Amino acid sequence: MLVFIPAETRAGELRVGLTPEGAQKLIKLGLSVTVQEGAGEASGYHNDEYKAVGADVAAGSGTLSSADVVATVRPLANEQISQLKSSAITISFLSPANDAQTIKALADQKVTALSFDVLPRISRAQSMDALTSQALCAGYRTVLIAAERAPKFFPMLMTAAGTIPPAKVLVLGAGVAGLQAMATAKRLGAIVSAYDVRASSADEVKSMGATFLDLGLDEVEGAGGYAREMTPERAKAQQDALKKFISESDVVITTAAVPGRKAPTLITSDMMNAMKPGAIIVDLAAESGGNVEGSVAGQDVKLNVPGGSITLIGCKDLASQLAVHASKLYAQNVVSLLTLMTAEGVVTPDYSDEVVQGSAVVFNGEVKNAMSREALNLPALATGESE
Ligand SMILES: NC(=O)c1ccc[n+]([C@@H]2O[C@H](COP(=O)([O-])OP(=O)(O)OC[C@H]3O[C@@H](n4cnc5c(N)ncnc54)[C@H](O)[C@@H]3O)[C@@H](O)[C@H]2O)c1
Repeated sequence: MLVFIPAETRAGELRVGLTPEGAQKLIKLGLSVTVQEGAGEASGYHNDEYKAVGADVAAGSGTLSSADVVATVRPLANEQISQLKSSAITISFLSPANDAQTIKALADQKVTALSFDVLPRISRAQSMDALTSQALCAGYRTVLIAAERAPKFFPMLMTAAGTIPPAKVLVLGAGVAGLQAMATAKRLGAIVSAYDVRASSADEVKSMGATFLDLGLDEVEGAGGYAREMTPERAKAQQDALKKFISESDVVITTAAVPGRKAPTLITSDMMNAMKPGAIIVDLAAESGGNVEGSVAGQDVKLNVPGGSITLIGCKDLASQLAVHASKLYAQNVVSLLTLMTAEGVVTPDYSDEVVQGSAVVFNGEVKNAMSREALNLPALATGESE
């Protein structure tokens, strides 16, 4: 069976769906791999490296029409979807609600579309968890961005010319990205503290060498170990309690998310007004609505505060900025998912498998994901039929 890796089409996307190392693993599984010429260039993986492991390199995206499996990072564009054969399987990130029109196009083309956005986060599927692998890259990048823009050192320095105190870094949201941000800031020598609405994250925060802020508020934990959406009253109480800690910080990194919802607002203009001149806020959630009032994905905003200004950085394409390693990890996620579904060189997704069922937003042309069905005004499926 043929696996095709087209070039990514979204502006700013530097990652690739499969590396040469990943291609080699798929070939060992008995699959054939064709990569669109130049697909890996932006992430540092060259045509010759794919050829050296036995993959084919084809000019243009014509192979889409004969491919059995198509793996990309971002969802395919509609003009690519229209070229797929009806039994094809696509693997990519695909937001069940936000990419509903793409999901409809995939269903109309009668394919099976597997999305890493909804892959079950069970231990058996850890090696396939692209949300985690890419959040790791994003969390790391936030700290480097902050360190580069901050007008201060992160570590404490004792020099003949005087002593420099360490920077105070506050991380809001202690999921995969937040924990990686804490670890990275700690390695740079900062004093790190963190807050999350899930009380269960306190031990993980401590294991990163950071201090967990106990705000004395109720925890807001929902199903599956994820946060729930807060009530306006709970959100206001959290903002009030965090204001003091934010005003004392040199760097604030926000990483909070609630699955399927707009990112929660954690920092208001009023809270920013109390910050120290020169302080930096890096909003990792800027692309999904933002954790900070006024943050714009891909833009820096300077805000005047008494005595100077602070910088609010709205992040965009963070994992893509680490394209070599983000692609390496992503490719392993793709290989692991395909390994689960492949026997004797044939890819056959088994819908009774929890991992396949959870990730299949479309299966054999039918929209299966409940959120996607709602977004497309389709009636709900009977229990056991939808994700
Ligand atoms: N394979 C696995 O078992 C596996 C893999 C990855 C993550 N997880 C778990 O899934 C959970 C979520 O991880 P994620 O990184 O995808 O999270 P996420 O990206 O959905 O959210 C990031 C963090 O923001 C927090 N948050 C939400 N609203 C907040 C608010 N108002 N204030 C402060 N923090 C807020 C969440 O609690 C979460 O920790 C964690 O418990 C993580 O350990 C499990």
